[in-house]
Amino acid sequence: MTVPIDSQMYELQVPTLSLPRHVGIIMDGNGRWAKKRNRPRVFGHKNGVDAVRQVVKSSGEWGIPALTLYAFSDENWQRPRDEVGVIMSLLESYILKEKEELNRNNVRLRVIGELDRLNPRIREILTDAVSDLSSNTGLILTLALSYGGRSEITRAVRMIAKRIEDGNLSSKDITNQLISDHLDTSGLPDPDLIIRTSGEQRLSNFLLWQSAYAELYFTDVLWPDFSKEEFSRAIVYFGTRERRFGRTSDQLSKSRNLQSETSTVEC
Ligand code: IPE
Ligand code: IPE
Ligand code: MG
Repeated sequence: MTVPIDSQMYELQVPTLSLPRHVGIIMDGNGRWAKKRNRPRVFGHKNGVDAVRQVVKSSGEWGIPALTLYAFSDENWQRPRDEVGVIMSLLESYILKEKEELNRNNVRLRVIGELDRLNPRIREILTDAVSDLSSNTGLILTLALSYGGRSEITRAVRMIAKRIEDGNLSSKDITNQLISDHLDTSGLPDPDLIIRTSGEQRLSNFLLWQSAYAELYFTDVLWPDFSKEEFSRAIVYFGTRERRFGRTSDQLSKSRNLQSETSTVEC
């Protein structure tokens, strides 16, 4: 029997394990989900929308500050025209239908990627939704659309080069932080956890710079079957990881002990 996992149970059982501050999801497997049912690929995309609703809701319940969903890559423009058209219209109807619900759940919206490539109507719908939800204070939901990590880095490099050309920046000012500040995700914490569904174990151009130290979680579940429960499994997995950032385990436990001594003294 599989034990159900949800955010409340997790709090009761493992109150001290850490939560990711930012989760990225590569939502993959819609086409295969449809194929298994002898249906066209777009049937999978349609059914994937409910999984999006579930992870957005679940992120809020867990108290995760930021969620980034990889919805359409730079490379996905090469797919058949009809399929691209259906994905774009699903995106449009998701935003229009869900805006109120996102607002009720205090969600802020952000969009990253080469938005100039999207059709102007969708761009307008997205811009309106971003602005309508901008005063919310809960989950930051970022949609990666027409997004690729390499083109994002290229755009950042161009912006920095332009500032140097204009005499507003010196090459000595280029730091990791400056580069992060010129990426689409500027201001967001780096993802602590990246989830990919459908059994593929690759990043496919998702958050390349930002995922330098992300924990990676792969599951065979196809995206339309990805439920709140599956999401919770990934969060619990994250809580079991020791994040060393180049240090040793001993160093980490020493600094933990030191911290707890300091907090005892302060009490
Ligand atoms: C992910 O599912 C959705 C997008 C990339 C837009 P796929 O459409 O890639 O599904 P598979 O990988 O072909 O099963
Ligand atoms: C990655 O999925 C892009 C999104 C989930 C939006 P793909 O299905 O396009 O990835 P590859 O091409 O198989 O790596
Ligand atoms: Mg795929």
